[in-house]
Amino acid sequence: MPDVTERLDALRQAIQYHAHRYYVLDDPVISDAAYDALWRELVALEAEHPELATPDSPTQRVPGAPAERFAKVRHPAAILSLSNAFAPAELHAWRERLLKLLPQEAQASLLYVVEPKIDGLSVILHYEKGQFVLGATRGDGEVGEEITANLRTVKALPLAIPTPTTLLAQAPCSGRGTSPDSLSAAGEGQAVPGRLVVRGEAYTPIADFQRFNAEQAQTGERTYANPRNFAAGSLRQLDARITAGRPIRLWVYQIIALEGEGIVEPATQWQALGFLRQLGFPVAPGAALFDDFEALVQHCIAWGETERRALPYEADGLVVKVNDFALQRRLGYVSREPRWAVAYKYAAEEAVTRLLDIKVNVGRTGTLNPYAVLEPVQVGGVTVTNATLHNEDYVRDLDIRVGDMVAVKRAGEVIPQVLRPLVELRTGEEQVWQMPERCPVCGGQAVRMAGEAAWRCVNSACPAQLVRGVEHFVSRGAMDTAGFGIRQAELFVELGFIKDLADIYYLEPSRLLELEGFGDKKVANLTEAIAASKSRPPARLLTALGIQGVGAVVAEDLMAYFDSLDVLAQATLEELQAVPGIGPVLAQSIMDWFAQAPNQRVLARLKAAGVAMSRPATSLAVAEAQSLAGLTFVITGALPSMSRDEAREYIKTHGGKVTDSVSKNTSYLLAGDSPGSKLEKATRLGVPVIDEAKLRELAAG
Ligand code: IVH
Repeated sequence: MPDVTERLDALRQAIQYHAHRYYVLDDPVISDAAYDALWRELVALEAEHPELATPDSPTQRVPGAPAERFAKVRHPAAILSLSNAFAPAELHAWRERLLKLLPQEAQASLLYVVEPKIDGLSVILHYEKGQFVLGATRGDGEVGEEITANLRTVKALPLAIPTPTTLLAQAPCSGRGTSPDSLSAAGEGQAVPGRLVVRGEAYTPIADFQRFNAEQAQTGERTYANPRNFAAGSLRQLDARITAGRPIRLWVYQIIALEGEGIVEPATQWQALGFLRQLGFPVAPGAALFDDFEALVQHCIAWGETERRALPYEADGLVVKVNDFALQRRLGYVSREPRWAVAYKYAAEEAVTRLLDIKVNVGRTGTLNPYAVLEPVQVGGVTVTNATLHNEDYVRDLDIRVGDMVAVKRAGEVIPQVLRPLVELRTGEEQVWQMPERCPVCGGQAVRMAGEAAWRCVNSACPAQLVRGVEHFVSRGAMDTAGFGIRQAELFVELGFIKDLADIYYLEPSRLLELEGFGDKKVANLTEAIAASKSRPPARLLTALGIQGVGAVVAEDLMAYFDSLDVLAQATLEELQAVPGIGPVLAQSIMDWFAQAPNQRVLARLKAAGVAMSRPATSLAVAEAQSLAGLTFVITGALPSMSRDEAREYIKTHGGKVTDSVSKNTSYLLAGDSPGSKLEKATRLGVPVIDEAKLRELAAG
């Protein structure tokens, strides 16, 4: 099959190339839609030809089943840490120590590389013959944890090197019909090392962190204190499918081991960065080479005030390294810290101020979130007046009292956070705080459910929840309704135009036109955007509903399993738990949501308004697919011409469901030879028993 092989190759290379432009170079050359088209074609072709699968195909970032625990990996060389310098004088002192250890001639020509010090999780990546084969955390510097499956999901991480960075530069592949010839070059003529181990930092951009945390908070799931904890927590998931949904990026900065024929080994750190970049690794921009140490110190001081603040990710300092590897070896290290490098760290952006009051706001799912009202204070160049206190336990565990002097930090450089009270400054006037038992917005009862950190307002008609619920519904990751945001949500709820989520689709343009600032054009655009949102895929609608625990990833998983929201709404606890990644708590939360009468009403009205509830129907397969829709089967015994797995697939492709045990909800027991106890139970419950021939009849409609 030369054609297919060639096309597969071309697609893989094109996807790799465009992913590299997007994730590594931050400079995409084709639209997301064009990229998706390539991706879909590759997935379809690989599904048709499983025999042509390759481990480095971009589709192979998709993880398998969860691990029980992480294996241990011994690093090929000690993974060192860094000593710190907190002031220019300490940088000078570091250099003095160096100079004493070096011969005169080396001192004269000493060069230094300065790199951003990214605040993330240190990772060690192993490549054999250009293939990514193993990835580990730093651990204690000798032995780390194996997190290969998690790291494979990180899109900036090359699964194979060299990554074709230059190919296609003239002819971006944007879909079918691209000549495979143009895709066959390798990246910048760099030979593939037989073995390469590199070290880098996995991190999460600040904006992605904030977006993700906000979503987690709204669905009542755990939030993370800062991007670093988030990245570390995400990469240390036993179930890599969770990592796959997390925004993790990577910068690589060190070669730990390198072997191979025809490789020109870098002799300096500066060359190493170029070498890594050429192989297709993401290398942080902003590294600089200095021969003048005074200029280097000035750079360190200035950078903290300028570039550092503009970075889309957190950097807690700069790393200063002796450039020449021969000199590095000569200098060696003491107690796991190299003498040849030092971290210049900026003082944490912390300040002390008085906690004037603790107030509570209400999140989308009704969570009551305590926050601090502070005497205004400058933190990292910004005046801070409010800071998060996370939840009741945080306030209690840290014994934060109203009137306390507190340390405040800007976590993720943006959301300020109360770190701790300064107990030694207490006067005795401070007040212990209590979580209110009523919702501050609607006055409804608040409760704290067992096993949850948050208190929740249980009044589903609470306007605070509705506004946030609407905001979430129309947001980009959900129904993506352009021109509809928090301000419109607040306004329409306040005016009573929106009393539940379905009302979004029943807004009357004539009434909107009466509102201040709503001209013909604006109303037309809004109406059009709302209408367009009706055809979003059902997974988006499911995300939009804001069921506790059901974010975008879970929604995708569920809708890959159930054909429509109607089918999902009928699912039993057992059926829900059959979906990979859905545990008993989540299954219960989903069941509970669909069982509520107001929610059923919302769904019915969404459907009546024309909002798509099922995946788009295509061609013939659909007519077939529906023949068993709404029917639940249990299979037992040996069937004459198909295995039980095949029967299961057959039923599913015709729209039916298969469960493991017989209940009164079972439509048919499909029984073959030696059926066993299921037959007995079916007979007892009056469930009809059919054979394979009858199944085929039913499926044929
Ligand atoms: S060099 C011997 N370079 O900072 C080499 N480290 O506090 C030691 N880090 O554990 C590391 N960016 O996780 C180096 N450009 C960079 C870095 C960097 C971030 C982290 C790394 C290390 C920690 C040391």
